[in-house]
Amino acid sequence: MNKNSKVILITGCSSGFGLRTAARLAATGHKVFATMRDLSKKDDLVGEVSLRGGKTKILKLDVTDVKSIEKVVSRIEENEGHIDVLINNAGYGIGGFFEDLEQEEIRAVMETNFFGVQNVTRAVIPLMRKAKKGLIINLSSIAGFCGFPGLGAYSASKWALEGFSESLFFELAPFGIHVCLIEPGTYKTKIFFENRKYAKKFFNSQSPYYETSQKFQKDVNDNVRIGAKDPEEIAILIESLIKSEGRPAFRNIPDQKTKLISLLKRFLPVRCYFWTVRFLLHFSSKK
Ligand SMILES: NC(=O)c1ccc[n+]([C@@H]2O[C@H](COP(=O)([O-])OP(=O)(O)OC[C@H]3O[C@@H](n4cnc5c(N)ncnc54)[C@H](OP(=O)(O)O)[C@@H]3O)[C@@H](O)[C@H]2O)c1
Repeated sequence: MNKNSKVILITGCSSGFGLRTAARLAATGHKVFATMRDLSKKDDLVGEVSLRGGKTKILKLDVTDVKSIEKVVSRIEENEGHIDVLINNAGYGIGGFFEDLEQEEIRAVMETNFFGVQNVTRAVIPLMRKAKKGLIINLSSIAGFCGFPGLGAYSASKWALEGFSESLFFELAPFGIHVCLIEPGTYKTKIFFENRKYAKKFFNSQSPYYETSQKFQKDVNDNVRIGAKDPEEIAILIESLIKSEGRPAFRNIPDQKTKLISLLKRFLPVRCYFWTVRFLLHFSSKK
């Protein structure tokens, strides 16, 4: 272990950003505790780590199960005495228009993407506070600051995460703990394939949204096929945030398209911004 090596806890490492980040950070000499809720899915991570070199400890953690979180955090405390970096990555998306979504489907996505992050963060903060340092990186999304039709539940979960993270930034700064967000656009991971979820009524032809939702599905598929980026970019960004020694920017947007949308959202009058989104949605429907 080199002197810049950090003790890092990551959630959701069975695929996507979590897997790439765990493997990348392990290869650069960090002590990585890579967690996943289902250990039978660990082979891809094990393969990636052995390809790149380095070591990870793979532990079971479901962000909705407080006991599993406490077990992991106690184990790291016993072995290492502290946690330098927490990466709240676990999450999923659900497609569905509001009236097609059942209340439990909305609650379930909040349970993972919002309360799940709070569960893990609550368990880790006391260790960081004791050490008077730490970095918490929360995986938000472009959907954390832009609402799109058919993604309301996911957007709500990430929007809530953004508000929570901003408050936490101020609350934890006096203890030397830094909080930041990553707000990616579209990256090629299982979130758009095996792990994709839809509202139960999404495919119900009697729904008043049926036609729009089928078009939405096609647009998302096209967008992923044409424009989805390499998830390694997120692993590289996380590595650089960790290297920035406690002073990373609060909002980190990795891709140019999302940066542009964020600027439009910030600087265009609301009416113009809504008009632009409507125009783009209409334009994509003509393709
Ligand atoms: N890919 C993108 O374009 C994109 C864009 C913006 C934001 N994000 C965010 O980035 C994060 C990672 O997503 P990804 O794109 O890498 O997708 P992914 O490949 O589907 O990975 C998601 C990971 O989260 C895990 N997970 C889900 N629910 C969990 C729970 N209750 N407890 C623990 N782990 C759980 C999954 O585990 P299982 O294998 O067990 O399901 C999987 O390991 C998510 O928060 C997502 O919202 C992704």
